[in-house]
Amino acid sequence: MFAVNQGIIQVSYIIATILFILALGGLSNQETARRGNWYGIAGMAIALVATLAGDVTQNFELLIVALLLGGSVGIIAARRVQMTQMPELVAILHSLVGLAAVAVGFANFMDPDRLSHYAGVELTIHDVETYLGILIGAVTFSGSVIAFGKLSGRISGSPMLLPARHWLNLLLLLGSIWYGYAFVVQSAAGGGVMPLIIMTVLALLFGIHMVMAIGGADMPVVVSMLNSYSGWAASATGFMLGNDLLIVTGALVGSSGAILSYIMCRAMNRKFLNVIAGGFGTGGGAAAAASGEDQGEVVPIDTQEAAELLSNAREVMIIPGYGMAVAQAQHTVFEITRTLREKGVNVRFGIHPVAGRMPGHMNVLLAEAKVPYDIVFEMDEINEDFPDVDVSVVIGANDIVNPSALTDPNSPIAGMPVLECWKGKVSIVLKRSMATGYAGVQNPLFFEENTRMLFGDAKETLDEVLKSL
Ligand code: TAP
Repeated sequence: MFAVNQGIIQVSYIIATILFILALGGLSNQETARRGNWYGIAGMAIALVATLAGDVTQNFELLIVALLLGGSVGIIAARRVQMTQMPELVAILHSLVGLAAVAVGFANFMDPDRLSHYAGVELTIHDVETYLGILIGAVTFSGSVIAFGKLSGRISGSPMLLPARHWLNLLLLLGSIWYGYAFVVQSAAGGGVMPLIIMTVLALLFGIHMVMAIGGADMPVVVSMLNSYSGWAASATGFMLGNDLLIVTGALVGSSGAILSYIMCRAMNRKFLNVIAGGFGTGGGAAAAASGEDQGEVVPIDTQEAAELLSNAREVMIIPGYGMAVAQAQHTVFEITRTLREKGVNVRFGIHPVAGRMPGHMNVLLAEAKVPYDIVFEMDEINEDFPDVDVSVVIGANDIVNPSALTDPNSPIAGMPVLECWKGKVSIVLKRSMATGYAGVQNPLFFEENTRMLFGDAKETLDEVLKSL
């Protein structure tokens, strides 16, 4: 049909790569995140056009139908998804990257010109690329589908621990290596389809088994780990197809996903290998303290009293958590912040790295409500300031302000750094009941002498507090 100069395509690929790097850089900070997104969109548009214009295929009708179909599904899914369902959407999108890598791998293997294009060492390298692409793709696909099922509540969040599960994993790994060897040997003689199929089945089983063994509380790490895998799967696909842009983009996604997993593990004080080994975390909260221990009395207050405490304060720290997202209370939080600041109260926000249900969850909500960036602080930046805080307002947060993470070595969240609001003068905790949070553990903060419980839906109670203010 028409052929575009290879040089132009290569230059477009380089521009797209630079835009992707700028996008990642932009997304690391709230103030530049919007710009970062635009860089990403522009990079992807250039990458798509350059790839279409290149010599991928002359069957443009099919490509355009596929693009329209995929694009429409993407737009509909993105429009419908609630902020709290974002991790599920991300998980299911990763599964598609994995599936694509498997499909490309098989198509590549079945290419009738394969044996005439490659021979000797080159053929072996090509076969290893194909094998690895399918292997990583299949693990990503089945692992992401299970992660989606767990996050959306279709599959129980509790870890499924088979007896001798580590041996089972080792067996699957050894099987994959053995069939890899068999595949490369047989492929040179014109065969190899059987080992490839057997390995794909093993990899699918491994993905299912790996994520089934991981408990609810570790799911965020798993999603970012699968994000990393999907990047490596794309990169392997790039090697198979000889496409530099796909190699680089896949590596960017792979490494940024790995870094994010590491940061999250550190924030939750979990060792990455322990997360992968599985077995931690319950189904996702809800049940009240079942320990039977007498934790003491809680002191409930009403919205009028909460407003008085806030009006008389000089230093206020707001600690948002998952419940603020559920209640969609961020706009009222902004109004309260504005009112208090007009009265001369210094209001700041303390953000825990795993508050909510996805990385940056609280920052996104606060940015949406137009809370100024310069009063929003990371946990590490403000955790030492609590002794000077008059009132901390804990909005629908639980695990991230649980002192037992620091004091009880047997707690499931033991060692996780938390926002130490109990060191301030008063903490007002907004939640609907005494139910536990994500990790399913009761919170001694609620029973502290200087804690006041403001029960009810966060949006409704905060609306009342605002009126009183
Ligand atoms: P959680 O510990 O889950 O606590 C949220 C609290 O919000 C619950 O105790 C709930 O109590 C309350 N709540 C729910 N709906 C509410 C509403 N409409 N109004 C008022 N309160 C409401 O949340 P967190 O403190 O933000 O901690 C996050 C947890 O999730 C951590 O364990 C973290 O490891 C895990 N996690 C994090 C991520 C990421 S990456 N951020 C992803 C998945 C899991 P009531 O039911 O009594 O109202």
